Amino acid sequence: MAEEKTFYITTPIYYPSNKLHVGNSYTTVAADAIARFKRMTGYRVWFLTGTDEHGQKIQRQAEAAGKAPRVFVDEIVAWIKELWQELDIQYDDFIRTTDPRHKEKVAQIFTRFYEQGDIYKGKYEGWYCTPCEAYWTERQLEDGNCPDCGREVELIAEEAYFFRMSKYAERLLDHIEAHPEFIQPNSRKNEMINNFLKPGLEDLCVSRTSFDWGIPVPFDPKHVIYVWLDALSNYITALGYGEEDSIFKTFWPADVQLIGKDILRFHTIYWPIFLMALDQPLPKTVFGHGWLMLQEGKMSKSKGNVIDPRVLASRYSSDALRYFLLREIPFGQDGIFSLENFITRINTDLANDLGNLVSRALTMAERYFDGILQEPLAGDENSDTELRSLALEIPAAVETYTNDLKISDALAELWKLIRRSNKYIDENKPWELAKDPANRGRLGTVIYNLIESIRFIAVMLQPFMPRTPESIWQQIGLKDCPELQGWSSLQEWGAIKPGVVVARGDDLFPRLNLQAEIREMQENKPAGKSTPEEQAEIQEGLISLDQFQQVDLRVAEIISAERVPKSDKLLKIEVEIGNNIKRQVVAGIAGHYQPDELIGRQVLFVANLKPVKLRGVLSQGMLLAATTKEGRLALTTVDRVIPSGSRIS
Ligand code: MSP
Repeated sequence: MAEEKTFYITTPIYYPSNKLHVGNSYTTVAADAIARFKRMTGYRVWFLTGTDEHGQKIQRQAEAAGKAPRVFVDEIVAWIKELWQELDIQYDDFIRTTDPRHKEKVAQIFTRFYEQGDIYKGKYEGWYCTPCEAYWTERQLEDGNCPDCGREVELIAEEAYFFRMSKYAERLLDHIEAHPEFIQPNSRKNEMINNFLKPGLEDLCVSRTSFDWGIPVPFDPKHVIYVWLDALSNYITALGYGEEDSIFKTFWPADVQLIGKDILRFHTIYWPIFLMALDQPLPKTVFGHGWLMLQEGKMSKSKGNVIDPRVLASRYSSDALRYFLLREIPFGQDGIFSLENFITRINTDLANDLGNLVSRALTMAERYFDGILQEPLAGDENSDTELRSLALEIPAAVETYTNDLKISDALAELWKLIRRSNKYIDENKPWELAKDPANRGRLGTVIYNLIESIRFIAVMLQPFMPRTPESIWQQIGLKDCPELQGWSSLQEWGAIKPGVVVARGDDLFPRLNLQAEIREMQENKPAGKSTPEEQAEIQEGLISLDQFQQVDLRVAEIISAERVPKSDKLLKIEVEIGNNIKRQVVAGIAGHYQPDELIGRQVLFVANLKPVKLRGVLSQGMLLAATTKEGRLALTTVDRVIPSGSRIS
C-alpha cells in the first residue's frame, strides 16, 4: 500500500485574556485555508489550535473581573470557539493548557528535564514583562521597558528553576543553517541568529513562585511551570506525546507551525531546544507572519466594531472576511486593515469579478437555453483555447503558491481565471450571437465553456472561501456531484455533462456602499467637511457601462390589464416584448391608471428581473415609472412607435 501522506499544521494557542480581534483571526484563517487545501489534495491532515490559559496575566485579569481564573477563561474560550465556527475553521483538535491531558504531560516533561540535568534550581533576578510573559536581562531592555511591547517591566528576585539553553545552542545553530526552510520567511532567520543565538544564549527561567495559576512543578509544588514551557509543549501533548498508540507518531514533526513574528524567538529558539532535550525531531517549518495593523497603529479591543471579527463576519460573511485576510496581505509582511480596504476588495474582487461572472453566465444560460447546458460544438475558436488552457494551468500555480505559503499569490492566480472568463463573455458577445439562430450552436458552446470555467473556479475557491462554492454548486446544478468538485477533477476540461440544468440564485456578493458601511461600523465619526471616504463614495456610486448593460431594458406593449383581487394597489398586466413573447407583471399602479386605458400603450420594461410572486400572482419583470415625493406616478414611454422588444441602451 502506498504510504499515507500526512500533514500537521498548528496555530499559536491564544491567551483567553480578552476576546480575539481580527489580527488574531488572521493566523487561524490562514492555517485553515492551508489545512483544507492539503485535505483536498490528498493528505491526511491534523490541524491544531487552542488556548494558552495559565500565567500571571490571566490570573490578574480574572481577579480584576472578580472571577475564578477557570471561570474567567471558560467564558472567553467559549467565545473563541464560536468565532472559529463562524469563520468556518475546521480544526481537528482544540487544546486548552488547562486540559488534564496537557497538564500531566507537561509535568512529566519538566521532571524528565530535571532528571537529565537540563533543568537546575537557582535564583532569578531580572526584569519581567507580564503582558508578554517574558523575562529580560537589563541589557535587553529598551529605555528601561520591554523591548517587545514597550511596556513597563517589574524587577523580580526569586528562587527559580532554569533550563540550560547554552548546552543546545550550537546544535540549534547548525540545524538552522542546514535547514533553510526551518525559519520562514528567510528574513526572520538572520534576526534570530544575530540577535539571540550568536551573542550567546542565556539560561531560561522555567518556573515561578509569585503566583499559582499554572501547572505545579511535580517535585516542588510551590513553583509553577513558566508559561512558555507549558504553552509550547501543547503542540506535542495534543498529539498524545508519550502515550502508546497515539497519533503522535503519525503527525510529529509538524509540517508547518504558523505564528506571528512577535513570538518567533520562543518558537525558533526555546521550542526547538526543548524538543532536542526530548530527543524529538524539530518542526519542518516555523513561519512567522507579519502583523495586521490599523492605519492609526496597533489593534486593540477599544477600536470597536472595525476589528471585531464576529461583527465583520456576520455583517459581510465569513467568506468575505477570509478572502480579505488571505488576499490583501502578502503572507509574511505587515498589512493594514481598514474598512475602506475591506469594502473595496468586496466590491471589486468579489462582487464585480466573481459575482458578476456567475450571474452573467447563468442569466444567459437561462435566457437563451432555459438553463439547460448544451453540448459544445467540436473545434475551438481562439478564445476557447485560451480559456481552456488557462483553466488547466491555474490549478498547478495555486497549488505551488499555497504549498509555499504564498496564499495571496495563490488567490491572485485564481482571479486571473475569473477575469479571463469575464473577458471571454465580452469577446464572444452572447447577446449578439443570440440574434441569429444560425449561431445557436456557438452560443451554446460559449455558455458551456463559461459554466465549466466557473466549475474550475469553484473547486479552487473551496479551501479559501468554503461557503461560496456551495452556492455556486447549487446554481450550476452540481450540488450532488462530488466527483466534479474535487481537486483531481481539474485535470480534465469538459467534465460537466450537457443537459445539466443551471438556475441563477441570489447574487454571491452584493455591492456595498462604502460610506454607508463606514457610518454603520464606526460609531461617533466626527462631523466635518467632505472626507476622502466621502469623495470615494461618489466614485463608489458610479457604475460601468457594462453594469448598466446588465439590465435588459425593452420596449413592451401592454396587451391586457386587470386588477389583482383584494388589492387596491396592484394590477396584473400582460406585455408583449417582441416575437410574440409575452410576460406577466404585477405593478403597483392601480391607484393611478384604469386597466382599460393601458391597453396598447408602449412602456419601458425591465426584462431580466428575477420572477417573484406578489399576492400569489407571478411577476416576471417591471414596468418603469416616474414618481414624485408626493406619490404622483407616470409610466415611462417612448416618444414614437417602435417595434416591441426593441432594446433600450
Ligand atoms: N499565548 C501566546 C502564544 C503561545 S503559542 C505556544 C500568544 N498569544 S496571543 O493571543 O497574544 O497571540 C496569538 C497570536 O496572535 C500571535 O501569533 C500573535 O502574533 C498574533 N497576533 C496578535 N495581534 C496580531 C495582529 N494585529 N496581527 C497579526 N497577528 C497578531 O502570544
